[in-house]
Amino acid sequence: MRLKNKLQALRSLCKVRLLGQRVPLAVRWQLTNRCVARCKYCAVWQTPEQEMSIDQITAILDEMAAMGTQTISFSGGEPMLREDIGLILEETAGRGISTEMNSTGAGIPENIARLKHLDFLKISLDGPQEVHDEVRGKGSFRYAMAAAEAAGANKLKFIFSTTLTRFNIKEVDFLLGTAKKFNTLVAFQPLKSLYRGVKDVGALAPRKEDYAAAIQKLIDRKKKGDPHLRNSLIGLRHISRWPDYPRLECWAGQIFCILNTNGALMPCDRIAYNSQLPNCLDSGFRKAFLSLPEPCCGGCGFCGVLELNFLMSFRLGTLESIYNIIK
Ligand SMILES: C[S@@+](CC[C@H](N)C(=O)[O-])C[C@H]1O[C@@H](n2cnc3c(N)ncnc32)[C@H](O)[C@@H]1O
Ligand code: SF4
Ligand code: SF4
Repeated sequence: MRLKNKLQALRSLCKVRLLGQRVPLAVRWQLTNRCVARCKYCAVWQTPEQEMSIDQITAILDEMAAMGTQTISFSGGEPMLREDIGLILEETAGRGISTEMNSTGAGIPENIARLKHLDFLKISLDGPQEVHDEVRGKGSFRYAMAAAEAAGANKLKFIFSTTLTRFNIKEVDFLLGTAKKFNTLVAFQPLKSLYRGVKDVGALAPRKEDYAAAIQKLIDRKKKGDPHLRNSLIGLRHISRWPDYPRLECWAGQIFCILNTNGALMPCDRIAYNSQLPNCLDSGFRKAFLSLPEPCCGGCGFCGVLELNFLMSFRLGTLESIYNIIK
């Protein structure tokens, strides 16, 4: 996030907390369901295709900017598969909104110019070549590495993002080492059952004792000040309880939301909703955001917003969350 957006976000967070307002500070926007990969834990690419036109996107961006959105994280599917990704980023940045993108890395080196207006890139990396390719498909390690090289060479800020499975649970040293090699950070997230995801992720889950050992190793590295580990200490302690997380105050739908390719808006994608979701293409973004259903959830994993939930709940370790957000 740019400094201006970070300061504005902190100011709005106080407003939300003190005045009970809803402000869509952070939005994750699934731009496409198309994907280059067929990862074992993800079924987004099986979802029927429906993408917004650039006119629909800019109309929603106008409303987001007016409502105080500070950062949009574009995801998918593979967002690089949208030919107009450069224009989407430019339109977003032009409205003063900070831009982030999750990607496999495919298509990035040859289209790096399209990322001129991208502030922050998250490249998925699940382990050494044989492990990464086993989970994400043959050839995918090569393009993740090529994307990291291209981002580094073009001074594009990036980190790695790892989903912990039984395949890579013993690879945290490799992943931290790779982050070090590229002078960046890696964020670890537990495997989850997702709305629109693979129904049963159980077969991919690590053994509980392997998972506990991996998280303990990360906690130890964090305590020793490893500069390549993105997760906060409070976040690591929280996800160490996987899969039965302690409950925490949830701010989904109040300060963040997820926008689907078809315009449907959700407070969070880690849960299924029985109620009808509001749709930005029918009602506009403002109305959709203000009518989001209450999330009812068993508890947060590393859902990208865990830090925001800690921050808003004024929990012990909040200072670290503030630091993670403003650094
Ligand atoms: C859905 S992908 C979209 C962006 C891009 N296709 C990619 O893989 O980076 C975003 C992130 O979600 C993670 N992910 C996918 N399915 C998951 C699951 N069941 N549990 C936890 N993380 C998951 C991926 O590993 C990836 O880092
Ligand atoms: S995790 Fe990303 S790369 Fe893998 S199938 Fe899902 S959307 Fe595609
Ligand atoms: S995973 Fe659950 S607790 Fe966490 S933000 Fe989503 S709805 Fe809230």
